[in-house]
Amino acid sequence: MFPREFAWGAATAAYQIEGGWQADGKGPNIWDIFCHEKGRVFEEHNGDVACNSYELWEKDLECIQQLGLTHYRLSLSWARLLPDGTTPHVNQKGVQYYNKVIDDLLACNVSPMVTLYHFDLPQALQDQGGWKSPDIATLFDSYAKFCFQTFGDRVKLWITINEPYVCAKFGHEDGIHAPGLKEPGTAAYLVGHNMLRAHAMAWHSYNSFYRTKQKGAVSLAINSDWHEPLHAGCTEDIAATERYFAFTLGWFAWPVFVTGDYPELMRSSIDAQSKKMGCSGSSRLPSFSKDEPAILGTADFFALNYYTSRKVKPGGGCGKMCMVCDQDAEVVLDPSWPICGVSWLAVVPHGLRKLLKYIKDTFNNPAVYITENGFSQVGPLQIEDVQRSGFYKDTILEVAKAIQEDEVNVRGYFAWSLLDNFEWADGFSVRFGLFHVDFADAKRSRTIYQSGRDQQKKRCHLTC
Ligand code: NOJ
Repeated sequence: MFPREFAWGAATAAYQIEGGWQADGKGPNIWDIFCHEKGRVFEEHNGDVACNSYELWEKDLECIQQLGLTHYRLSLSWARLLPDGTTPHVNQKGVQYYNKVIDDLLACNVSPMVTLYHFDLPQALQDQGGWKSPDIATLFDSYAKFCFQTFGDRVKLWITINEPYVCAKFGHEDGIHAPGLKEPGTAAYLVGHNMLRAHAMAWHSYNSFYRTKQKGAVSLAINSDWHEPLHAGCTEDIAATERYFAFTLGWFAWPVFVTGDYPELMRSSIDAQSKKMGCSGSSRLPSFSKDEPAILGTADFFALNYYTSRKVKPGGGCGKMCMVCDQDAEVVLDPSWPICGVSWLAVVPHGLRKLLKYIKDTFNNPAVYITENGFSQVGPLQIEDVQRSGFYKDTILEVAKAIQEDEVNVRGYFAWSLLDNFEWADGFSVRFGLFHVDFADAKRSRTIYQSGRDQQKKRCHLTC
């Protein structure tokens, strides 16, 4: 059913699992600071220790081996490698840690996929304006070059930035993620813009200086739900769905895969809202400069984080200037879709197949890695997580159909997550792991869930 070389992986991110927030010379990052402020995160949880993977990496490796994975997606902590974010100041202990992780994986025949940025900007760079500052692109590029130079002899799959949409909107418009800014209608567009510039510079650096020797591939991980009109055939709902896609998937995928610029529908919707609010002058959506490295073509594959599906209708904003008003589109849940754990997570495996087909048709049939997909558990712990196991089974079958029937070029599937971990604003109250982690136990003992066991069997059955 799946080709032999298909990548079967699980994913994690540094801040969510590592802990060791001050260990061995690591610098503080924006999540360290955010979590230590009162009222930011569920019950004041933080990632100071998390799964303690900084000390317990070998335990993680055992989990990876127990699942029989061919790939493991991890992220590097920028501030662990470069405590103040800049390249002259390298923390050798951080380099040693990731060297060991990468070497151990390869020794077990597991290929690393490495994310350079998963939400955790060094605080020193935040203090200089963070992702709102135009200088961040060059700083990110230096960090990326440092990582390609240091680890690229062994890492062949790179993700520059994970979910720029979430960093931009949650972190700078809604204020529910670090750095906790609430500047609706402007900051998110600026942050998204600088993230695209940073990504493109890093891709060009890889292309010019490392690709020939290292022979790897670089992309950025774009999160997207599957969206469909609330009422099939309703013109307003169809138009709202198009706008919704333009402001989410299109915001980052259109510049990289289609034109080098934002979707026209995104810009015209923002400008129309500005006009309505009596603001004229330059667009709130920045423009790319011709003097900078091109954005178009800066992905060697499509990296997709898919979790859920939504129905879309017009409206939903605050009546002022914000992203929801700009896009003039609101999402609603279909009551027939079961919810798992958190309120935003409707279980819709078939949405993934539809989205994969949409990506194939819209973005010129790219190679696709599903870099995240998962199912959360809240409330009482269930090690026999039958529902999650069923979810993975159904989802993997939808991926198989996408490959076989729709001829989508899917190369890999990464479950989120290897371990229960720090789920951002929800702290440890939401569990996504294939392994349970006991956060009350100083040893952070890991126990495989039923879904982890079943996945392992299923994969064998499907690929052998
Ligand atoms: C996507 C993010 O990349 C990851 O960090 C997060 O934990 C999952 N979504 C689940 O919300």
